[in-house]
Amino acid sequence: MTAAMQPRLPLRDGSSIPQLGLGVYRVEPAATADVVGAALSCGYRLIDTAQGYGNEAGVGEAIAASGLPRSQLFTTTKLTSRAHGRDNALRAFDGSMQRLGVDYVDLFLIHWPLPDLDLYVETWRAFVELQQDGRVRSIGVSNFTEGFLQRLIDETGVVPVLNQIELHPWFPQRQLREFHDAQGIVTEAWGPLGQGSDLLQDPRLVDVAQRVGCTPAQVVLRWHLDQGNVVIPKSVRPDRMRENLAALDVQLDDADRAAVSALDRGVRLGPDPEHFAVT
Ligand SMILES: NC(=O)c1ccc[n+]([C@@H]2O[C@H](COP(=O)([O-])OP(=O)(O)OC[C@H]3O[C@@H](n4cnc5c(N)ncnc54)[C@H](OP(=O)(O)O)[C@@H]3O)[C@@H](O)[C@H]2O)c1
Repeated sequence: MTAAMQPRLPLRDGSSIPQLGLGVYRVEPAATADVVGAALSCGYRLIDTAQGYGNEAGVGEAIAASGLPRSQLFTTTKLTSRAHGRDNALRAFDGSMQRLGVDYVDLFLIHWPLPDLDLYVETWRAFVELQQDGRVRSIGVSNFTEGFLQRLIDETGVVPVLNQIELHPWFPQRQLREFHDAQGIVTEAWGPLGQGSDLLQDPRLVDVAQRVGCTPAQVVLRWHLDQGNVVIPKSVRPDRMRENLAALDVQLDDADRAAVSALDRGVRLGPDPEHFAVT
C-alpha cells in the first residue's frame, strides 16, 4: 500500500494521524537515523519517539535526509518524566524541537502521569500553551488511566486527542478503550506485538495466521487496526518493517478476531501507571 493510501484516524482537534507507524523505543541512538531512514523508505510516515529514548536526534537526522515534505510526516515525542511542571515542560519541549530539527511537532504526549509528583494537570496546561503557540499540532497523554484522564478533563476542560497505552492481545484494555470512545480520545497501542515476548509464538495465533495466509505479527496488528487502534510496532529490521506495514492489506473475519481476543490474560508486561514513579 502506498504511503498516500495508508489509513489515517481523525483527531478531535481536526488533525489526523496515520493508523500504523514505527516505534523506536530501545533503538540505539547511533543506529536510529539508519533505522528510521529504512522505515521512511518502506513507506512509514508516523515515527514515535520520546525524550526518554535518547534517540530524537537520530529521528531528526532521518527526517532531514529523507527529503519528504514535512506535511507528509507525522512526528510524535513524549515529555520525559524528569520534566513535569510548566517551566520544565516548556524547556524540555524546546530541546525536542532542536533535536528533531522540526519547526513543529505533530503530537506531544505526557509520557507518564506520575501521580506521586501530582504535576500532570499543571504540565497539561503547558501543553495547551504549546498548542496555542502552534509549535505542537496535537496534544495527548500516555499511560493515563480513566481516573487521571477524568481529572485532566474536569480541571482544564481540554480533552487529550489520544492516549498511548500498553495494549496487545494479552492485555486488551477493553474498559479504558470504551472510556476513550465515549470521550472521543483515540487509543494508541504501545507494545502492540507484546514487546518481543512469546505472544507471537502462541499456537492459537499461529493457527489463525496459517488460515489467513499471513504471519502472527500481521494477525495481531490487523486485530488492533480492526478495533480502531493506532499501532506503532518497533523493528530495527527492514524485512519486519515491511511485514508489519503489510498488515494494512490483511483481512480477518469475526472468528479470527475472536480467536485473538480469547488470548486475553489481563496481565500487563510493563509498569502500572498508578504506581510508576521517577526513580
Ligand atoms: N508510552 C510508553 O510508555 C511506551 C512504552 C513502550 C513502548 N512505547 C512505544 O511503542 C512502541 C512499540 O512498543 P515496543 O517497542 O515496546 O514493543 P513491540 O512493538 O510490541 O515489539 C517490539 C519487538 O518485536 C519484535 N518484532 C517486530 N516486528 C516483528 C515481527 N514482524 N515478527 C516478530 N517479531 C517482531 C522486535 O524485534 P526487532 O526490532 O529485532 O525486529 C522487538 O523485539 C515503542 O517502540 C515505543 O515507540 C511506548
